[in-house]
Amino acid sequence: MRPQPDFIHEFVAGKSNRTLLLLHGTGGNERDLIPLGHELDSNAALLSPRGKILENGMPRFFRRLAEGVFDLEDLQKRTRELADFVISAAQFYKIDNRQIVAVGYSNGANIAASTLLLRPETLAAAVLFRAMVPLLPETQPDLSSKRVWIGAGDSDPIIPASETKQLAELLRSAKADVTIRFFQSGHELTNDDVDLAREWLTKVVD
Ligand code: MLT
Repeated sequence: MRPQPDFIHEFVAGKSNRTLLLLHGTGGNERDLIPLGHELDSNAALLSPRGKILENGMPRFFRRLAEGVFDLEDLQKRTRELADFVISAAQFYKIDNRQIVAVGYSNGANIAASTLLLRPETLAAAVLFRAMVPLLPETQPDLSSKRVWIGAGDSDPIIPASETKQLAELLRSAKADVTIRFFQSGHELTNDDVDLAREWLTKVVD
């Protein structure tokens, strides 16, 4: 028997070959985004790990020094760890590792963006709700086969619009196909985010 992938996680089998890798925000857990995953693609398998870092008891995917100030060494280490988890989970659950789409919110969106930049082979596409520039990679990845949807709040107190645009530019400079949408909201997710992301996902063909 193969060992269990080494993150606490939920897995929900799907009816298609696509898997949504669900990445929660600070203080969330592996169950948080399961309903969102079903809403975004009711046929996809769902793989939802819990971040291993605890900040005052709140799970996160990597350490930060202050709000919006990341521990870059830890971020790189945790990004590799998450990418390795996805590889072992894909083997364990027999999912197609070429059809994994990250769906991240806030801290989860930031590690999803970091995964695109440092371990791009892990993901076919990504939906990033309320994401920031996680890091600037030393070498530019080739993201020419990657599609990314970014949903931002136009009055997000944590992420200024300029930061979201900078993330889009960073991904575009690596040749990713990026769609960016601004919503009348703050850091919280809205129904419009979910509706537009769902519509976009139906067009991201295998
Ligand atoms: C982060 O730390 O990833 C961002 O500040 C978003 C958050 O988790 O609040």
